[in-house]
Amino acid sequence: MERTFLMIKPDGVQRNLIGEIIRRFEAKGFTLIGLKLMNVSKELAEKHYEVHKDRPFFPGLIEYITSGPVTAMVWEGNGVIASARKIIGATKPLEAEPGTIRGDYGVTVGRNLIHGSDAPETAQTEIALWFKDEELASWQPSL
Ligand code: CMP
Repeated sequence: MERTFLMIKPDGVQRNLIGEIIRRFEAKGFTLIGLKLMNVSKELAEKHYEVHKDRPFFPGLIEYITSGPVTAMVWEGNGVIASARKIIGATKPLEAEPGTIRGDYGVTVGRNLIHGSDAPETAQTEIALWFKDEELASWQPSL
């Protein structure tokens, strides 16, 4: 079954949007199999965002992600990677459609509330980076 890594960023946690964001993925019908509230080390943040290391916004991005707790999650379901990206909305919140998380709650790209893996390879890498195997629950919804 397909899996993706989602992370509610420090602004989402500080704005009390954890419940609202989780609700959207539960309501859609995806299965939560990993969940933790955690502070992010500089090392983990730099590994997670390695692909952006030469971008001018990289230092600010690392400072922001390490500024307060994030909610790291793994979700499972058919097509969950692409569907989660749709539920999240465009990277720039002002370009994100109303009805998406960023479209409904965000304004600036530097505070865009949530991260979602963009492809199967990155999902696999990010899940392995953020979670140990034993931190993931294996269960099937009965409905
Ligand atoms: P995310 O989906 O986590 O992937 C890369 C992140 O880099 C993105 O969300 C934003 O938080 C951040 N980002 C991308 N572009 C900019 C920018 N121009 N200024 C600040 N942060 C950015």
